[in-house]
Amino acid sequence: MKIRQRDTGLGWADVTPREFFFNRRAFLAAGGAALIAGNAWANDELDVIPSQFSTDEQPNALPDIARYNNFYEFGLGKGDPARYAGALTTQPWSIRIDGLVERPGDYSFEEILDGVQLEERIYRLRCVEAWSMVVPWVGFELGELLRRVGVQPSARHVAFETLVRPEEMRGQRVPMLDWPYREGLRLDEAMHPLTILATGIYRQPIPNQNGAPIRLVVPWKYGFKSIKSIVRITLTEEEPLNTWQDMAPDEYGYYANVNPEVDHPRWSQASERRIGMGLFARRMPTRMFNGYGDQVAHLYEGMDLRRYY
Ligand code: MTE
Repeated sequence: MKIRQRDTGLGWADVTPREFFFNRRAFLAAGGAALIAGNAWANDELDVIPSQFSTDEQPNALPDIARYNNFYEFGLGKGDPARYAGALTTQPWSIRIDGLVERPGDYSFEEILDGVQLEERIYRLRCVEAWSMVVPWVGFELGELLRRVGVQPSARHVAFETLVRPEEMRGQRVPMLDWPYREGLRLDEAMHPLTILATGIYRQPIPNQNGAPIRLVVPWKYGFKSIKSIVRITLTEEEPLNTWQDMAPDEYGYYANVNPEVDHPRWSQASERRIGMGLFARRMPTRMFNGYGDQVAHLYEGMDLRRYY
């Protein structure tokens, strides 16, 4: 997986605070590499440039990001994905891109990344369960891929599906959710430059439990929109029905924009707990659109966000 590098003249140490560089090395030396050992690309360093879209917040350490996960295909517990996702084979991998596109087909992971410049984007991730993290993703804009395959003029939405492989995804052996896990975005949300397909974290291939080899990241929406281990992308005219919307329509809507003023029916969304700060750390106020309002509020102008939650 060799990716063309734009020469920025910057090295890792120029773009990453020293302590992260050394923490990461210490973590890997301490055996943390086992967390990503299931990933066939684990030893392949990525060529990446820093992004203007990053927050200046301190990223969480890799152990926090890779040990506290939601990935129901591997079980319900937060520790289950780290424990069981190593069983997932991520190579070879391909994504079927179909529906209202000019060039439908099965695209290999290598074809998808061919000629793509990977960027490091440090994004806040706010889960609907009111915890949050800051993650240094490596990825590229979803819009770039959609432009390459050609979006037909009648397309209005983009639907995504995760792999179904119960032999390797033990959570899929029980009908906990209606597999595959499905998500969707309005086309303008999908084309927004903040919306990325991520293939790495901390400049390493993405750990299996975080959605290897390729997952969506939409930083102004609750984490459940950021679907992992994608195998299908379909351009549609109709709004697709997503997994959580289908399971519990009163609790999870199509939009799922982070909004401290619209509570989940069973708990408040006004504040959040940042993972890794210790159990007694003060909760922090949640920001509208997870703090990305300047960039995305215009997408929802005139919409009643209580109704379109
Ligand atoms: N994608 C799939 N396929 N299956 C899942 O269970 N969980 C979602 C989302 N993507 C999920 C998924 C939820 S609820 C959250 S909060 C984020 O992944 C968590 O991402 P992380 O584990 O990388 O922090």
